[in-house]
Amino acid sequence: MRKDKLIMDEQKKKVRRLLKERNAIMLAHNYQPPEIQEVADLCGDSLELSRKAAKTDAEIILFCGVHFMAETASILSPDKTVLLPRLDAGCPMADMITAKDLEHKLKELPPMPVVTYVNSTADVKALSTICCTSANAVQIVNSLDVPEVLMIPDRNLARYTAARTKKKVHYWNGYCPIHDRLKPEELQKAKNNHPDALFMAHPECRPEILEMADAILSTSGMLKFAGESDRRSFIVGTEVGILYPLKKSCPGKNFFPASETMVCPNMKKMTLTDIIRSLEHLEGEVKVDEKIRLPALEAVRRMIELSV
Ligand code: 13P
Ligand code: SF4
Repeated sequence: MRKDKLIMDEQKKKVRRLLKERNAIMLAHNYQPPEIQEVADLCGDSLELSRKAAKTDAEIILFCGVHFMAETASILSPDKTVLLPRLDAGCPMADMITAKDLEHKLKELPPMPVVTYVNSTADVKALSTICCTSANAVQIVNSLDVPEVLMIPDRNLARYTAARTKKKVHYWNGYCPIHDRLKPEELQKAKNNHPDALFMAHPECRPEILEMADAILSTSGMLKFAGESDRRSFIVGTEVGILYPLKKSCPGKNFFPASETMVCPNMKKMTLTDIIRSLEHLEGEVKVDEKIRLPALEAVRRMIELSV
């Protein structure tokens, strides 16, 4: 055990040294393993990370997250090298709609804006009007001066938004397999075990789960909410990786997963060894072709401009 810790400490030092030598910045999503969050320059939710990726002066962005996040960084920073140390870390929800699927869907509907969750491929973003994240979906939809929108790919985020806007929201039947898995019976057990706890849910959860929530928040929204609340215990309805930054930022409080099964295997693929290899050999570059990047950038930029 102690030997493993010593190896990991050495690896962390090596990552920091390589980042400096390469003039690289390391960004990590709130679901990444603790040792990766500990060594990263910045941790955050999808919106924060895309904003930070756009502002950095570093020559290399090392992204610890999943493929669509690295693509978004590349869309915003075409002159930088964007590295994703595990190119096989994808997002099943993002892969539930292709550009062709979207083209077909648009033919079935009257003309309307397409609001696309950042958890989507660059090809799909390129056909979209504007992007959104879990932190700003309602604000983005309300900002559009139209009576109807199409939201893709997450049906749960779309239904959550539909309940908070006067606009008609059409949606695609995509979902996150990890959040969609949480059922009311399992959540009720957690609530029975921790009757004093507040329940924080991510909008990727099913509507019947959101109805049982005390607060519906993005991952960083949960960190802020738990920090500011005068309550001591929280049940957390999102991927279990968030428990690490929650416990770190609120040491005196208690956090319980709504379900131990909410583990995203793609968010757990990356290791310090992968990161070292990627930085040493500049392996795992993610680059979006200009034909796709320019229209995708428009959709991402509209979102960022609206959410400052
Ligand atoms: P946020 O960090 O934007 O809340 O997103 C959650 C998520 O599932 C990312 O894959
Ligand atoms: Fe995709 Fe869900 Fe994993 Fe997030 S938690 S990366 S939405 S599969």
